[in-house]
Amino acid sequence: MKVKHSLPIAIATLAVAFPLTSRIASAASVEENAQLCASCHGESGIPQEKTTPIIWGQNEGYLYLQLRDFKSGARKNDIMSGVVAGLEKADFKALAAHFAALKWPNIQQPSPPKDVSKAALTVIGSIGCTSCHLDQYQGDGTTARLAGQQAEYLLKTMTAFRDGSRANNPGMSDLMKAAQPADLGPVAQYLASLQVIGGKGNQ
Ligand code: HEC
Ligand code: HEC
Repeated sequence: MKVKHSLPIAIATLAVAFPLTSRIASAASVEENAQLCASCHGESGIPQEKTTPIIWGQNEGYLYLQLRDFKSGARKNDIMSGVVAGLEKADFKALAAHFAALKWPNIQQPSPPKDVSKAALTVIGSIGCTSCHLDQYQGDGTTARLAGQQAEYLLKTMTAFRDGSRANNPGMSDLMKAAQPADLGPVAQYLASLQVIGGKGNQ
């Protein structure tokens, strides 16, 4: 049932997305390009798929670095490398500023059970995530905001740092290797459930 259901959706998503990505171009205005990002990252900042990250309200420096890294191939993703192929540094700066200025959507992911949160906090405490991602996991500059990000995306990308398939930040890969694979699910669920407390774009 699940397979039957998700396949037509996947095909429909690709059919809609690929003609759009070929129209994302340096010549277009930031608003025109940003409109095309919405086909996957969401009209109101809520992504269409659970493995697509929230980018509304994400930190500007971090957004810029990711677009740059998708273009250079330092961060590999077939979809996003297609998206940025026709764009240049000035477009990345403009898109990063555009999305960073929007309000992070609260998608109200549930708090995990107490034992899961406890497991997550043990890992987070032992690795010291807040020393870089800050006390409310809001990040800053080129360090990503984690609070309220989609759980499935967080798990996917932490796993990718750990196994080296996301290789654009060796420091994050080393930190993820210090965690056990079984720790990452609880960490993703815990971070995803955090409601935003202070700071830019927060509620
Ligand atoms: C066809 C769907 C699609 C389109 C269109 C698209 N994206 Fe993405 N984007 C994705 C997916 C899927 C990922 C996750 C990639 C991964 O897992 O590494 C992503 C990741 C990103 C990231 C990394 C975020 C993070 O937290 O690390 C940024 C930044 C981004 N996209 C910006 C954009 C911008 C800006 C546009 C428009 C110019 C755009 N995307 C258009 C699907 C899309
Ligand atoms: C030494 C500083 C540092 C520490 C400690 C750290 N991080 Fe990071 N983290 C970063 C930086 C910088 C990035 C942005 C990497 C990039 O540019 O791709 C990042 C990126 C991430 C991302 C990707 C976010 C996205 O939107 O794709 C996740 C998830 C993450 N960190 C989780 C964690 C967790 C969980 C911990 C603790 C177990 C942790 N980090 C500890 C610096 C750190």
